[in-house]
Amino acid sequence: MLEKINQYKNELENISVNTQEEAEDIRIKWIGKKGFVTMLFDDFKTVPSELKREVGQKLNELKLLANEKISVLKQKFEQINTGNVQPIDYTLPGFPIIESGSLHPLTIVKNQIISIFSKIGFTVSEGPEIEDDWHNFSALNTPDNHPARDMQDTFYVNLNPEMVLRTQTSSVQVHIMENKQPPIRTISPGRVYRNEAISARAHCQFHQVEGLYIDEQVSFADLKQTLLYFAQQMFGSDTKIRLRPSYFPFTEPSAEVDISCTLCKGDGCNICKHTGWVEIMGCGMVDPQVLINCKIDSNKYRGFAFGMGIERITMLKYRIKDLRLFFENDVRFLKQFSNA
Ligand code: DAH
Repeated sequence: MLEKINQYKNELENISVNTQEEAEDIRIKWIGKKGFVTMLFDDFKTVPSELKREVGQKLNELKLLANEKISVLKQKFEQINTGNVQPIDYTLPGFPIIESGSLHPLTIVKNQIISIFSKIGFTVSEGPEIEDDWHNFSALNTPDNHPARDMQDTFYVNLNPEMVLRTQTSSVQVHIMENKQPPIRTISPGRVYRNEAISARAHCQFHQVEGLYIDEQVSFADLKQTLLYFAQQMFGSDTKIRLRPSYFPFTEPSAEVDISCTLCKGDGCNICKHTGWVEIMGCGMVDPQVLINCKIDSNKYRGFAFGMGIERITMLKYRIKDLRLFFENDVRFLKQFSNA
């Protein structure tokens, strides 16, 4: 009997079926009323009592094996019939689906600004984020008592000598002019820091692009035309600009630049506070004293400069209302720019 049990075990292992009916036949053949295993249990009565323990154990093992095997065979078809297992669609994309990342909206707009200005001959230059007092303030004509130097506005990294997190990319102008003689035509994108309470409209860190053009014959008309070209490339060819007189310590004369509102096209809306215009940057003719500070001959050369916030341009372009979104890295926000 032990031999028979072993033989059945081997046979069971090798059984395979192709249809539900075949699986049912196997069940009847093995564990039905007259099945092999059932019959063996009948024969068990005849086993001498001294062998009963060993044979009984093996017989139980065989029964377990048969039950397991048959339930596996049957399950295969039950799942397909009840629709629990979908037939495999080989045309589906692989798993896991690898999502492609996207550029941050500020990077997208920074790259656009670079591409717009590089078409008219501007190079790209960068400077350090930790600056000494000279590059961030003094060389740019910002007097010792100027409110921008206040601890409330500037992050000081060191007090003696004074080292600050740069508050403006205008500091890069100074590095460039100290290291290179005109003609200079460059833009400097980068991160800046200010000691501001964080809100929808202000942040302690943001990004600017500085522009600088120094040569023998640079006029205010060149500045205006360059900015009109930029505004129309960035916001559309029907965009208008207007310059309002303003003050910056490093430019004379200075102006603030507005563009016609991209949303209402000048009719008046919430974005432009019903004026039809929105401010996008500051600009002016480089103050001759700044040229002198940087060892450039102020009788021979003049130039213009401008500075804009990348967040501001991006908010206008994509109608983003809260500055904090740029720094929170919420994928639901960032994902929306994957095709930009
Ligand atoms: N640095 C100024 C700021 O942070 C922006 C600026 C204004 C830059 C006028 C310039 C300029 O180059 O000419 O507000």
